[in-house]
Amino acid sequence: MADGALIQVEKPIVLLGMMGAGKSSLGLRLGEALGLAFRDADAEIEKAAQMSIPEIFEKHGEAAFRDGERRVIQRLLTEGPQVLALGGGAFANDTTRAQILAQAHSIWLDVPLDELVRRVQKKPGKRPLLVGQDVRAKLSELLDARQTFYAEADLKVDVGGGTHEDAVARLIKALETRLTPSEKA
Ligand code: S3P
Repeated sequence: MADGALIQVEKPIVLLGMMGAGKSSLGLRLGEALGLAFRDADAEIEKAAQMSIPEIFEKHGEAAFRDGERRVIQRLLTEGPQVLALGGGAFANDTTRAQILAQAHSIWLDVPLDELVRRVQKKPGKRPLLVGQDVRAKLSELLDARQTFYAEADLKVDVGGGTHEDAVARLIKALETRLTPSEKA
């Protein structure tokens, strides 16, 4: 039995952090380990808008994307225990952040800048905020602007190295320290 099968959360587990932190790939695996559905906020926004994120940015602009992002996350948070991966900017929204802090377990997936740069360069074009930019400079600027928000998460876990299995084990170990009394029962 996976370690995590012993954890029974009563609210969503939200993964947040920068582009390239591994929120979706680790979220999927964490969901499997805990027997929970995995939801990806970006994928849900694309489904609701019937277009890709680059298309949303191009046709409607970032403000419209952020508005859709806030509404989609608000809806997902009402849908019970699940693992929910956010887009990198979502937790910087005051409303979204307050809702997550009140309604979910939140984990900041922390990864050093060099590793973020390496990872995001594998999929150029996928992230409109990085297109045509000096990727390292832009990621560094976004991280500077966002890290005080990320630091409000319940937990911060370093997932900058090692295998996916190691990272999932670290996430579960961290979560165990935050379970409510009824989740521990
Ligand atoms: C963004 C991150 C992206 C996506 C959008 C904006 C950001 O998600 O939501 O391109 O503002 O950091 P990932 O963090 O999954 O790449």
